[in-house]
Amino acid sequence: MAYRLLFVCLGNICRSPSAENIMKHLVEQAGLTGQVECDSAGTSSYHIGSPPDRRMEAAAAKQGIAMTGSARQFNTEDFEAFDLILAMDRDNYRNICALDRSGKYHDKVKLMCDYAQAHGDREVPDPYYGGPDGFDYVINLLMDGCEGLLKDVKAKL
Ligand code: 4NP
Repeated sequence: MAYRLLFVCLGNICRSPSAENIMKHLVEQAGLTGQVECDSAGTSSYHIGSPPDRRMEAAAAKQGIAMTGSARQFNTEDFEAFDLILAMDRDNYRNICALDRSGKYHDKVKLMCDYAQAHGDREVPDPYYGGPDGFDYVINLLMDGCEGLLKDVKAKL
């Protein structure tokens, strides 16, 4: 059985689809396709069915990452379906944990930045209302976080 990762942000059109596609890219490069599966979701219903944001897509393309997927909302079934749930910021983390009333799945939920090695950020900043630099920053931060995450996941396979 593959190890399953779920990346979660607010809208599922900027940060979490980037993390999903970056991680898929690294997993493929590491020859681990089939052993690690990646998906993403948003805590909100704002953009259900929408493709990734074009600005995010442009920033990802500069680093050779193609963006795929359409937004969906995080739901309680995801707690069982995934081995690890990566929240992009503390609001996402709180909103995910609020759906786990018993606390049974608490240990599966982590902050994405816990895995970043070259960045001191505690949260992946929301780029939605900012300029293009914010999108480039998110990609670099997520590259770092996903590299750290891959190391951790490899140890679990
Ligand atoms: P994301 O970015 O959570 O990284 O997908 C956002 C997308 C949409 C909104 C906020 C953040 N919004 O308010 O619509």
